[in-house]
Amino acid sequence: MAYHNLHIDDSDNVRTITLNRPDKLNALNRKTLLELQQAIIEAHGDDTVRVIVLTGAGEKAFVAGADIGEIREQSAIEARAFSAMGQNLMSLIQSMDKPVIAAINGFALGGGMELALACHLRIASDNARLGLPEIKLGIMPGFGGTQRLLRLVGTTRALEMSLTGEPITAERAHELGIVNQVVASDELDSAVTGLADQLAAAAPEAVRGILQAINQGADTDLDTGLALETARFALCCATEDMQEGTGAFLEKRKPEFKGR
Ligand code: COA
Repeated sequence: MAYHNLHIDDSDNVRTITLNRPDKLNALNRKTLLELQQAIIEAHGDDTVRVIVLTGAGEKAFVAGADIGEIREQSAIEARAFSAMGQNLMSLIQSMDKPVIAAINGFALGGGMELALACHLRIASDNARLGLPEIKLGIMPGFGGTQRLLRLVGTTRALEMSLTGEPITAERAHELGIVNQVVASDELDSAVTGLADQLAAAAPEAVRGILQAINQGADTDLDTGLALETARFALCCATEDMQEGTGAFLEKRKPEFKGR
């Protein structure tokens, strides 16, 4: 499908989806959200795609939030639908069975931070700023930010960031465990590519099992999470990739996983 506000690039088994409205700092308007939803569904259904990278076009921003101009024009009923659409998209991303990496190349504010929080891994450039500034507009996060940030950093930090709206530096986000890694801006691409290639070379069934066990385990009781882990572990052991991985270890060679 042709996109207006996204750029899609495939390299080996890694699909990079670039939010592409740099003149508006890649703000998420309704059209962009719908396109991103479609792009995620396509990536999900494409067996050649093993890892997805989300990033923003331009030098300044990953995504500077939901589109404020559009928010201003909405009735409460439309706002409820807009919030539900954004939340559904973020949940779709989080529940993907392929790793989604956020390459945070600048401002990740409001909906931009919420999008990054829905990804499985986050690498930020050292000039990135992350925050939930909705309070300053007289509104609040509506794409899952209160809930995902709360689960990631706890009530104290989630309340501080949501109530003050003050953005934090990439370094601070790393200290708080919000991002996995901070790199110099000119090293972001290579750091993200390195991680994406590593994950793309892993055994897909093991990747799927880990994503499901940790994502669903985070919101369930221990016994349910452990039962899920056992089921997924058993499934991994039914794959040719398990034979390949264990065989390669014993034969002291590098494994070549085929997704079977
Ligand atoms: N929605 C719509 N447009 C946005 C936007 C958003 N969330 N964020 C930035 N833009 C637009 C600006 O209106 C401007 O458009 P214009 O050139 O047509 O006037 C353009 O993007 C560039 O932004 P600008 O504010 O001029 O850049 P800056 O470098 O001075 O400031 C930010 C950068 C990120 C600090 C600032 O744009 C900002 O605070 N954005 C809003 C962040 C926010 O509140 N997000 C949550 C939304 S719910």
